[in-house]
Amino acid sequence: MRVNTNDGKMKNIKVATKTCSYEILIGRNILEHISLFLNQHNGIKSISIVTEDRVAKYHLTNLLKILKQNKLSPNILVIRPGESAKSWSNIKKVTEWLISKKVERRDFIIGLGGGVIGDLVGFSASIALRGIRVIHVPTSLLAQVDSAIGGKTSINSIHGKNLIGTFHQPAFVLSDVSMLRTLRKRDFRSGYGEVVKYALIKDANFFDWLEKQDFSNLQRNEEKLTYIVEVSSQIKSMIVEKDETEQGIRALLNFGHTFGHALEAATGYSDRLLHGEAVALGSCLALNLSNKLNLIDQEQILRIEKHFVSSGFKTKIKQLPGENIDLNLLMNLIYQDKKVTSNQLNLVLLNKIGEGILVKDVDPENVKNVLLESLK
Ligand SMILES: NC(=O)c1ccc[n+]([C@@H]2O[C@H](COP(=O)([O-])OP(=O)(O)OC[C@H]3O[C@@H](n4cnc5c(N)ncnc54)[C@H](O)[C@@H]3O)[C@@H](O)[C@H]2O)c1
Ligand SMILES: [Zn+2]
Repeated sequence: MRVNTNDGKMKNIKVATKTCSYEILIGRNILEHISLFLNQHNGIKSISIVTEDRVAKYHLTNLLKILKQNKLSPNILVIRPGESAKSWSNIKKVTEWLISKKVERRDFIIGLGGGVIGDLVGFSASIALRGIRVIHVPTSLLAQVDSAIGGKTSINSIHGKNLIGTFHQPAFVLSDVSMLRTLRKRDFRSGYGEVVKYALIKDANFFDWLEKQDFSNLQRNEEKLTYIVEVSSQIKSMIVEKDETEQGIRALLNFGHTFGHALEAATGYSDRLLHGEAVALGSCLALNLSNKLNLIDQEQILRIEKHFVSSGFKTKIKQLPGENIDLNLLMNLIYQDKKVTSNQLNLVLLNKIGEGILVKDVDPENVKNVLLESLK
């Protein structure tokens, strides 16, 4: 990973995995760099953009204008937004559409949107013609700090979330933080849940910095957003470089996720609990479990919970709106998580702020107790 910090406005992170290398550009009002990137590639016959209604409303016109100025006229497909878009039917729709547009393997497909578009478009790009190059233009905070980096693509199975997918690294990622201005506040906060996760598992100084910020002003402070996306992208890239297909250290990125996924499933992947909100709540559960196993101390846990609360997150399951959630249901869902091997519960916990650790074969009684305390 190489970071160029010479330019005060724009940051450039180079990700080099075993299979490929690509660049992440981060900054404000930097969308025009997409044309600069495309102009470096001769012989592109077509460019295709896949996006969704909400994102298209705010950002498609600008992207088209920039491409047009560079004499590029893309194919455009706009789908319906929402998690349910990550489906077999949309994989078919996007892939057949690409083929109908006679794309070639050297062409590019641009995914313009949040994590849903990134996961869907990445998947289609990986199977159409056995692999077309994909450019991610992530438009949500979650997608900029997380899903656009690392090459995991997915759709949802009837048996669970993200269970079908491929690894397909992007050719280029352009994270324009100015695009985050149009996000609903709650979607912005959801992405912030992942930002805090990075700080907790890998970077205590970053956590100190985050703690000092006024969360309510962050979404409009593009300088600070650039810093947040940059540090988060660096941590994610560094981990992906070391472990592209999640055989080891990449598991750390699942901090808060085993609990979080169970809570998302228990609330029906609905507006009751967004992904990043589930991660924040799941992080609180993982922290209490860490403490039970004599890892992180109570004082640090209080600090972290305070930060989650001041950013508007819920820190206990009982604070969630709607019907009570059943303990046994949660335990069953936790055991269905991908991180369970041979019925052993392996969880990412915290030694201290900035130091995540994978703990194998956790005693389910401890997990149950932590859930019980959060439910009452
Ligand atoms: N591939 C990975 O490594 C990875 C990692 C984390 C999450 N994910 C996946 O990402 C998805 C969640 O991502 P998400 O939170 O971005 O969801 P999303 O794509 O549904 O976006 C959230 C909401 O924000 C809206 N939106 C996006 N950008 C906007 C903008 N600039 N202005 C206004 N509204 C905008 C969307 O229309 C949507 O309503 C999940 O499906 C999750 O599984 C994948
Ligand atoms: Zn996540």
